[in-house]
Amino acid sequence: MLDKITACAPGRVNLIGDHTDYAYGLSLPIATDLDTCATLIIDPSSAQLNVTSDLYEGSVDITKDTSIDKLPLNMNWAKHIVALAESVPNRPFGKLKIKSTLPLGSGLSSSAALQTAVGLVFGANRKGIDLAKFLQTTERLATGVTGGLLDQMAIIFGKKGSAILLNFDDLSYEYITLPENFEIIVVHSGVRRELSSSKYKERFNEFKKLETLVGRLDYSSDDQLKMVKDRVLLKRARHFISESQRVLQAKELLHSGDINSFGTLMVESHKSLKEDFEVSIPALDNLVDSLLTIKGVYGARLTGAGFGGCIVAVCEPGSIELGSLNLRAWKVSASDGAHICTSNKMPNL
Ligand code: GLA
Repeated sequence: MLDKITACAPGRVNLIGDHTDYAYGLSLPIATDLDTCATLIIDPSSAQLNVTSDLYEGSVDITKDTSIDKLPLNMNWAKHIVALAESVPNRPFGKLKIKSTLPLGSGLSSSAALQTAVGLVFGANRKGIDLAKFLQTTERLATGVTGGLLDQMAIIFGKKGSAILLNFDDLSYEYITLPENFEIIVVHSGVRRELSSSKYKERFNEFKKLETLVGRLDYSSDDQLKMVKDRVLLKRARHFISESQRVLQAKELLHSGDINSFGTLMVESHKSLKEDFEVSIPALDNLVDSLLTIKGVYGARLTGAGFGGCIVAVCEPGSIELGSLNLRAWKVSASDGAHICTSNKMPNL
């Protein structure tokens, strides 16, 4: 019998704390029940890996000579798998089947989920934060984008019923139990985005510039802001500091069950991402505004990198009727992190 192994990795929805990870700030995401699963059927007699996905037409055969830049354009989706194949020594050959309920290009970490599930079935030989850092490098290899660790840490450390407070300075994390009378809704703006073609790199570089000018930003006080003379950089720094402070306030509000004020923080976060960080677009702003008019909605904001993709709203259970939105929308709940589901082979993890 051929060895067979399946791993599933959730997507992530960030409740608050965006564009803070690559500047050593704080975020508060959940891992979702929308996920990507990879099944590897190992065939020791094969010299190639045949990859199929329920999200894409066709298949790709990856051999030891396949490289990302040689992939046909219509097979661009497979670059994440090739990046992993190049990075995992002695990865197995055979068949790899991908199934996903995560929408692509939506700011819900579909590519990090794909890489995590495939990394686990390849036997990437790492765990926890080491696995997160490894997947950050393979994501960079696939997309050319240097992101932070938000997606990978949320996907790996997710916990059912909890949000995860991530600290990107010391890479620690803490679980915050979510209240029960609290529903999380994700709505797609209808605008697809790819990180690599967005202004994500520009924002990342602005932080590097800020670091050279005033040192690493410290969100515990506003003092450094006085030293930033450039108008644009000042806005970026103001977002970073206020957003990380909002994450800390969010933790307290969730602990005390004050969901109304938590919702207000989400709205402030969206305003900061729109005005100071300039990563929103009208479709996201309009969606946030219209959801906020619905009775029972506590707050809404864009989630993830912005430039398109999804918004996240928190509301009283049942107050948003998904069908009435005429957009792709999901009720999501906080779920456990990536894991091996079935295996008749002991993975080398
Ligand atoms: C993308 C990146 C993350 C993070 C978010 C914004 O999802 O992959 O590292 O920077 O954008 O918070």
